[in-house]
Amino acid sequence: MEPLSYRPANEGDLDFIIRLSMKLFSKYGNYDEIVPNWFLEPGVITVVVTEKTDPLGFAMLAIERGGEPPRGHLLAIGVFPEHQRRGMGSALLGHMEDLARKYGLSEIYLWTAKDNLQALSFFQKGGFKIVGSEKDYYPRGQPALAMYKRIDP
Ligand SMILES: CC(C)(COP(=O)(O)OP(=O)(O)OC[C@H]1O[C@@H](n2cnc3c(N)ncnc32)[C@H](O)[C@@H]1OP(=O)(O)O)[C@@H](O)C(=O)NCCC(=O)NCCS
Repeated sequence: MEPLSYRPANEGDLDFIIRLSMKLFSKYGNYDEIVPNWFLEPGVITVVVTEKTDPLGFAMLAIERGGEPPRGHLLAIGVFPEHQRRGMGSALLGHMEDLARKYGLSEIYLWTAKDNLQALSFFQKGGFKIVGSEKDYYPRGQPALAMYKRIDP
């Protein structure tokens, strides 16, 4: 793998983010609309990972300072299928954890589909634990699991 770079997404990345969201998440709902709406929300940080200059993945973290402890909600993470299983997702997840630390967050949580064994295995390898579940979580009705990871300072 070539060295990876990470940068905050800008509006020029929206086409790429929508294209990748449709590819990865359309099974669960209208994420080609949901993800760009998240992108525009204040408090959501979107990061694009590039190899050379090509964007190959993105992740979104919502900063939630209201609760105790302050925590981050990893809204989405995805890598183009032809670039998966090369360590890029783990590197991007590690980058998002570093960002969360910089924002003073002490934990990250996320929801992922119960049938998404690839993501479950990925997050478990990344140190996330299953802490809950919800039926009908997704717009298309699939159930989801809640996962959580403590972020050491
Ligand atoms: C989840 C995702 C981001 C992982 O990205 P990636 O670049 O493939 O991940 P990595 O190469 O860093 O994999 C790290 C570990 O995760 C696990 N993993 C990743 N893909 C897997 C798969 N298809 N099957 C089983 N385990 C898998 C493995 O333990 C892997 O380590 P290993 O390759 O040493 O065995 C990517 O698969 C993806 O974009 N999936 C579709 C979108 C999605 O489901 N996102 C999560 C919910 S928002």
